[in-house]
Amino acid sequence: MRIAILHNQDHALLEDDPGREAREDVVRVAAAMRAALGKSKQHTVSLLPVEADLLGIHEALATDKPDVVLNLCESLAADARGEMLVPAMLELMQVPYTGSSALSLALALHKNKAKEILRARGVPSPAFCVIGHVEDLADVDLPFPLIVKPSREDASMGIDFDSVVTSKQGLGRAVAKVLRTFHQPALVEQYIEGREVYVPLLGNSPRRALPLSEIRFGNAFVGKPHVVSYKAKWDLDSPECIESPSELASLPPDVEARCIQVAMDAFEALECRDYGRVDLRVDSAGQPYVIDINPNCDLHPQAGFARAAEAAGLSFADLALHLVDLAWERRHGNQAPRLTRPDSARRAAEPHRDLHAGRGVVRARAHRRRAHAQQP
Ligand SMILES: Nc1ncnc2c1ncn2[C@@H]1O[C@H](COP(=O)(O)OP(=O)(O)O)[C@@H](O)[C@H]1O
Ligand SMILES: [Mg+2]
Repeated sequence: MRIAILHNQDHALLEDDPGREAREDVVRVAAAMRAALGKSKQHTVSLLPVEADLLGIHEALATDKPDVVLNLCESLAADARGEMLVPAMLELMQVPYTGSSALSLALALHKNKAKEILRARGVPSPAFCVIGHVEDLADVDLPFPLIVKPSREDASMGIDFDSVVTSKQGLGRAVAKVLRTFHQPALVEQYIEGREVYVPLLGNSPRRALPLSEIRFGNAFVGKPHVVSYKAKWDLDSPECIESPSELASLPPDVEARCIQVAMDAFEALECRDYGRVDLRVDSAGQPYVIDINPNCDLHPQAGFARAAEAAGLSFADLALHLVDLAWERRHGNQAPRLTRPDSARRAAEPHRDLHAGRGVVRARAHRRRAHAQQP
């Protein structure tokens, strides 16, 4: 099988990128995936870095004609909002790819939209509001403490100790900083004191939870909010990072079951697929709240998802192959064998191609039946 690993390589594009370290990490994940998949003699694996030019990638894929794309793209041109364009293009090209669709990635990134869906479906998530202009601060009608985050970023971008606020002044400062730095609305959310638990999910039908992990907040957090800030996630030498390791969670069985159920419901609500991680805060009563849904989460071999897979008996290479299999299972939805001419375009497989026509047929039949019924 020909596997192309598509990943963003845009960390050096901006002079002052608040997410540079997170973006740079993807390049290492891609290299690790290539090494892991390369061990299998049945596959040829290529790396396709994307800076900003998605159309260039379209050309490369059209020439390369991979059977499956392992999609690790988290941004385009150092903008996370470009992430969703990649699966959209792969759909258009009818190439099966790993991970979630454009719809799910877009919803997960637009945190307020994701929260509206979760709350409509009764999946617990902290109360919130969205502030697009400092003048709207007077509209915030939520009790302190609150946390302020960019509404459309991930990887803890824009999160530091000052993001947790207990006064109107602190709130104003934190919101103004998000608006200034990220040029996007700020999400103001109820701050949930409690344990931070991650639920890694793998597969579709069936879908299973891999062993849960929990952040252990150490001395660097004494007297400070227990938040996984950007520094804690990416500045490996900082006290915040050293003292916030993630370890296997040890929760009472009923709380663990609740966490898994809430995470599954959240994943399902956004129609995520293949793999991902749902981040929860669990309050003192054992009630989990969804704070973040991460489809296409970080797959670095040392990061949480791969370690959870390892704890469940799946080596990194097994995990990589499993993800490829999950995408391959969808090939009839996205792709069919090429026609015999080497330059011919791919066509969707019959069952999929019939989808729209099929509906037409059903409608036409229903119509005929009605027309028939009206006859004397
Ligand atoms: N409502 C909340 N209550 C408590 N802590 C929160 C809340 N929202 C975010 N955090 C903290 O901030 C971190 C980053 O927030 P998150 O929503 O996961 O953003 P990102 O998508 O950038 O990862 C979390 O890991 C957690 O420590
Ligand atoms: Mg998060």
